[in-house]
Amino acid sequence: MVAVENEAQITERVLKSLEQTPNPRLKTVMTSLIKHLHAFVQEVQLSEAEWLQAIQFLTAVGQKCDDRRQEFILLSDTLGVSMLVDAINHRAEHGATESTVLGPFYREGARELAPGESISLDGKGEPAIVSGRVLSTDGRPIAGAVLDVWEGNDDGLYEQQDPNQPDMNLRGRYRTDAEGRFTVVGIKPVSYPVPVDGPVGQMLLALGRHPYRPAHIHFIVSAEGYRPLTTHLFASGDPFLDSDAVFGKKDSLVVDFERHDSADEAAQRGVRAPFYTVDYDFVLLPA
Ligand code: BEZ
Ligand code: FE
Repeated sequence: MVAVENEAQITERVLKSLEQTPNPRLKTVMTSLIKHLHAFVQEVQLSEAEWLQAIQFLTAVGQKCDDRRQEFILLSDTLGVSMLVDAINHRAEHGATESTVLGPFYREGARELAPGESISLDGKGEPAIVSGRVLSTDGRPIAGAVLDVWEGNDDGLYEQQDPNQPDMNLRGRYRTDAEGRFTVVGIKPVSYPVPVDGPVGQMLLALGRHPYRPAHIHFIVSAEGYRPLTTHLFASGDPFLDSDAVFGKKDSLVVDFERHDSADEAAQRGVRAPFYTVDYDFVLLPA
């Protein structure tokens, strides 16, 4: 009984040490963090060996980070924290398109493309034409909205992961016309594993979890006077839709990639057969 009192006293003392925190938000966050962290340690009755293993794991996560790799974000993603933060900060409002994770592979500075121009620089993969409009939640089209688009190649690798791809392959920016219309040309996406050559990969293995994300194309859609939207379009029928390794899939973002085999039709659309089409309107919330 004395021992249990001692344990509670430790938590109380730490909570008391936070009482003078000048920043009220920091005080709220740290007080809650200490309460939950101590309750967790109590609940699992953490052993000293497990404590050391946790320290070594977090150290390895930090050591894996550099200017091209963010293992802490991957940890947050694979534990569902990124999607929880996204859900809290982007509650579905007035029919606006739902958001999902940014992921670690976005790069700024993609070149601006004309409608119908392809983001593929190496011509690999099956062409996919994604067209539609960018609308306001009141239904009005938004002219001059920017769609920043990126995706992995047909081997499931983003260009910065793959020395065989040209720099900035499969990235581009498109602007909507006066009717809010856009025509993005990329490739049919494939499912791919999140990076597993670090501690997060070892964690997934230890948990018996697979590392795959369902096939998707990334978009950041922005327009003056509107909240920017970070989202994906997921390919229907993908086997990993219900077990996304980062919990990013939302039903409203799953679309059909309709297959077309006609060489004539492909030539008319400036692509080669077989190719795929997707129709999708993005809806932005006024700022
Ligand atoms: C991605 O879709 O690019 C991604 C998102 C979260 C973690 C890893 C990859
Ligand atoms: Fe991705």
